Amino acid sequence: MHLSTKLIHGGISEDPLTGAVSVPIYQTSTYRQKKVGQPGDFEYSRSGNPTRLALEELIAELEGGVKGFAFGSGLAAIHATLSLFQPGDHLILGDDVYGGTFRLLEHVFKPLGLSYTMVDSRELSQLEDALTDHTKALYLESPSNPLLKIIDLEKIAAWAKEHKLITIVDNTFATPYLQQPLALGADIVLHSGTKYLGGHSDLVAGLATTNKEELAEKIGFYQNSVGGVLGPQDSWLLQRGIKTLGVRMEAHQKNAETIANYLADHADVAKVYYPSLADHPGHEIAAKQMRGFGGMVAFELVNESKVSEFVEALKVITLAESLGGVESLIEVPAIMTHASIPKEKREASGIKDGLIRLSVGIEDITDLKNDLEQAFTGVHDEETAK
Ligand SMILES: Cc1ncc(COP(=O)(O)O)c(C=O)c1O
Repeated sequence: MHLSTKLIHGGISEDPLTGAVSVPIYQTSTYRQKKVGQPGDFEYSRSGNPTRLALEELIAELEGGVKGFAFGSGLAAIHATLSLFQPGDHLILGDDVYGGTFRLLEHVFKPLGLSYTMVDSRELSQLEDALTDHTKALYLESPSNPLLKIIDLEKIAAWAKEHKLITIVDNTFATPYLQQPLALGADIVLHSGTKYLGGHSDLVAGLATTNKEELAEKIGFYQNSVGGVLGPQDSWLLQRGIKTLGVRMEAHQKNAETIANYLADHADVAKVYYPSLADHPGHEIAAKQMRGFGGMVAFELVNESKVSEFVEALKVITLAESLGGVESLIEVPAIMTHASIPKEKREASGIKDGLIRLSVGIEDITDLKNDLEQAFTGVHDEETAK
């Protein structure tokens, strides 16, 4: 089956009991046992729930994993994955990851004895320098958040394998529709389901999958032992969102491409980050490893001091954290999503205070361009314009 078909028919796409084409919301915490100590397929809904299972099988199938896991948030999925490591272990972390991932490592796992080094993971020499005898894993995002850095996943995962490291890829920005990291050599794929997979800004969820049985067993153990599972209602909603992922991603990236070109030509814009642009350093790798360039665009204004004024002037595009919904969302990473990363670390990885991140929605492109244009008019300064 092609991916667009799997989005709709993958995993458990019907209720095995009734044939209902939408898997029902099994709103139950527990299941009758016919005999003492002989539970059926389901025993207790933290350990397993049919609606959640349908979603878990779906993400495993979409990413090429052996088992999927659904959590109450993307961060809960990341937490369960980082729980695979022991005090004394060392990780190498891409320097441009979601701020909450950094916060989790720095303030939750580091005090428990895990250490990490942040590197520009596009550079093999930086990875080599960061490697220690205790390094156990490489944690990456590609495209990264918010600078859309592109990492050659096949090359870097092969390097990691040589050094017996587990490669973990947060695939939230690309989604399995555009990129499948396990096929490129990664071991674990993570998602904030809150974003493109859900697609409608109406739920918070996280997913993990792996193509290694032993890793699946451990993630499953942490999912059940720590208990940050996704409830049946949100499991159903996320599955419903995934059914339309293909058509949404096509519409997102069509609009994003137009907006990126419009911004690149704009007199009030200093720099645009979007992997389809010929001057994007990751353009060729993205063209090789992705089916499209995605719906996220980042840019800097010529006049950095006008950033807040600009984003606040938008009327169709909503000033809000998060991304991947049908509606366009805009934010200032240094003040919003990435504020938990100290300024000097942010700037070292290229996230300037004036950077704007735009999650391009699927509204009419003319309305989006007109909205940006009216906001630019408000902040235009003849002296600073290009
Ligand atoms: C790339 C990425 N990964 C993980 C997360 C965390 O997901 P959640 O907000 O669902 O916990 C986010 C949230 O913005 C994200 O952008």
